[in-house]
Amino acid sequence: MVTAGPTVEKIDPVRFISNFSTGKMGYAIAEALASEGAKVLLVSGPVRLTVSHPLVSRIDVTSADEMFEICQSLFPTCDGAVMTAAVADYSPVHIAEEKLKRVGNNWTLELKANRDIAAELGKMKRTDQMLIGFALETQNELDNAQLKMERKNLDMIVLNSLREEGAGFGHDTNKVTLLERKGHISEYALKSKREVASDIVEKIAELLSLPA
Ligand code: CTP
Repeated sequence: MVTAGPTVEKIDPVRFISNFSTGKMGYAIAEALASEGAKVLLVSGPVRLTVSHPLVSRIDVTSADEMFEICQSLFPTCDGAVMTAAVADYSPVHIAEEKLKRVGNNWTLELKANRDIAAELGKMKRTDQMLIGFALETQNELDNAQLKMERKNLDMIVLNSLREEGAGFGHDTNKVTLLERKGHISEYALKSKREVASDIVEKIAELLSLPA
């Protein structure tokens, strides 16, 4: 299973909270896994991308809550999951049924924390399953990524730094460092997201062939 893209949290019928994720990294990973023969369930937030590989089945979702429900029900049927989605950390406490009117000069929107999908899958994970997350950090990158991997019970975390020119959201290129739970760290050069996806899939294959 691969999660990809942003989630969209509705405020009212015409407004929402979201982020700049384009889904490119997740779609590239889904395609790379499929080209190695894996059957892929791609759980995707709203993106402008299409997927053509016959081994990729796309499941469209909108909100973090919806993504959580689908992932939780599908994960037990999967050998593993790669969590690339930029899931909104918070969503509005109330979704207004009618368009909200402008009132006064200041407006406060009450938000509640969304569930952490990767962490919840980390709790459900069987010993025969692999869970891989992404980390987007701007400071103390390696330490924060390491802590995130442990907190969410991931087997590997892909660190991409927003400080790197041409890497991350919206770009066609990415520069990543792979941190494995067993301690190994691999740094890669700036590459196209397709090439980065192949590197990640190669590492997954390597981890699968290692004795537990
Ligand atoms: N993630 C998730 N569900 C969430 C938040 C994050 O599945 N509600 C996953 C992302 O897909 C990614 C990893 O967790 O694989 C880390 O996401 P990130 O946004 O970097 O981390 P957060 O846990 O939100 O931490 P923070 O924003 O405080 O750095």
